[in-house]
Amino acid sequence: MSGGTIVYKTAEELAYIRKSSLLVGKTLAEVARHLKPGMTTGQMDEIAEKFIRDHGGVPSFKGYHGYRHSLCISVNEEIVHGIPGSRVIKEGDLVSVDCGVFMNGFHGDSAYTFPVGDVSEEKLQLLRVTKTSLYKGIAKARPGNRIGDISAAIQEYAEANGYGVVRELVGHGIGRQLHEKPEVANYGKKGSGPILKPGMTIAIEPMINMGTRQIRQLSDGWTVITGDKKPAAHFEHTVAITEGEADILSSFSDIELAIAENSYITEKIATLA
Ligand code: MF3
Ligand code: CO
Repeated sequence: MSGGTIVYKTAEELAYIRKSSLLVGKTLAEVARHLKPGMTTGQMDEIAEKFIRDHGGVPSFKGYHGYRHSLCISVNEEIVHGIPGSRVIKEGDLVSVDCGVFMNGFHGDSAYTFPVGDVSEEKLQLLRVTKTSLYKGIAKARPGNRIGDISAAIQEYAEANGYGVVRELVGHGIGRQLHEKPEVANYGKKGSGPILKPGMTIAIEPMINMGTRQIRQLSDGWTVITGDKKPAAHFEHTVAITEGEADILSSFSDIELAIAENSYITEKIATLA
């Protein structure tokens, strides 16, 4: 998946990754503005592709290992890599939307899980914990720490809340390639793995299951679902390691403004850090 060695970025390169990452956030916000029960995941994908191209970007996922869409849209028991198409969004769905943008030679990558309509408290809690686990991981993304410190922080928090942490899929370095070294697992041991240094850019993306951590791969070759068919959630940020705290290059700000203004999306989790 992510071959080669870790590529450290200059300030100029970092600025390009930020640009691409911010366009991802704005694209997810555009999707959030339109999201409502009755629409298809294929329509969501069309909105995203048009928005990305209108703003001078190219969808990172389109053409990646033969993938034919701009978004991965994973509903309820689908964890990640759901393929947009004729599936209709229903009230009560958890809809994970993952997006990548390529612009000026650099990628940005981010994902958000939306609660559509009247979503159960149990599902909202899964979203809160998954999102918070992402920020717990980001808090460990400091120079001198190791990748395993990020992984362990995510795992500890998610498991303490009774959830299953997906192991087969991981976060990744990001830059000129969508997937670079190092791998950023969502489980692991403190103090293990590559050391974090300024100039590293990584996508941290916890995939958390309400039930067990077991997964199944669908025969479409992409969609990954939970083994027990219980719901899953996925949040992702592209971040840079600096001399101090991690610099979050993607942003949920526009997404959360869009959620606040869309009465079809439950707002209860939107204001969480
Ligand atoms: N966004 C995924 C990731 O976070 C990759 C999507 S796979 C693709 O790594 F084929 F859709 F691009
Ligand atoms: Co990613």
